[in-house]
Amino acid sequence: MPSRLALTIVAATLTACAEPAAKPAVKAEPTPGHASAKLEPATPATTGAKRSTYSQCNVAGPFIAITFDDGPHGANTPRLLKMLKDRGIKATFFVVGQCVAELPEIAKQIVDEGHEIANHSWSHPLLTKLGEGSVRDQIERTHNVIRQTTGAVPTLFRPPFGAFTANQRAWAHATLAYTSILWDVDSNDWKHRSAAKTESIIRAETRPGSIILCHDIHTPTIDAMPATLDALLGKGFKFVTVSQLLAMHVEKPPAPKAPPAKPIPAKDAADAASSPDQQQSASPAPAKP
Ligand code: NI
Repeated sequence: MPSRLALTIVAATLTACAEPAAKPAVKAEPTPGHASAKLEPATPATTGAKRSTYSQCNVAGPFIAITFDDGPHGANTPRLLKMLKDRGIKATFFVVGQCVAELPEIAKQIVDEGHEIANHSWSHPLLTKLGEGSVRDQIERTHNVIRQTTGAVPTLFRPPFGAFTANQRAWAHATLAYTSILWDVDSNDWKHRSAAKTESIIRAETRPGSIILCHDIHTPTIDAMPATLDALLGKGFKFVTVSQLLAMHVEKPPAPKAPPAKPIPAKDAADAASSPDQQQSASPAPAKP
């Protein structure tokens, strides 16, 4: 969890979306046909998405979702979109509402190129410190600007800094049918600002069902993407959007209850603890695609 100092740094970087885009921002109207196709009521995925919050999924295949937060950004997001298009990869963008309002053409490009767009609040505050009305305003304003700008209806929410109260999560789930999405692979790209570290963390930690956290407002993150994406493709991973990953999710059956433990003689216990095989079998093997 980012520290308070880090929160301040992250909040400061959010002016990044205000950088001038290549073209002046134009008030985009949703294309009627496009909009009507996307303005269906938000429906949870059919086979999964039973819970209101996910950090990763349990899937029967090498499927992963890469996510980009805090944009869109005038220069970095279009650069990233080209990299994704060149590789046939679909990603999920958790956008900040005020950035969508400032850069509507880029938000529309995200959706038009087949990526998922999702809600990351209006101005990236720490929601747990806000009153109920402010939190609802943050989420609803962003929901509406995404709909009006891109024609897509977001069904996913990621709270800024991953911080959300149980009541806030329940409200978003009940009112907007939102599923809250966290992550299991944290690139920490906002912290180290190193393309090499971003790549090495993602390569090392990604597993089938992973949800990878990145930020498309940082240039080194985009610099890391060609090698990172190619490495994951080379390992056999298949990129899907978060909603597609949720649709594949299968809830793991509850673990069977262990039989009552028998007391172990002191000598046997000492032998078991010193055995490499015993120690190895105690931790599950890392999953491979
Ligand atoms: Ni964020």
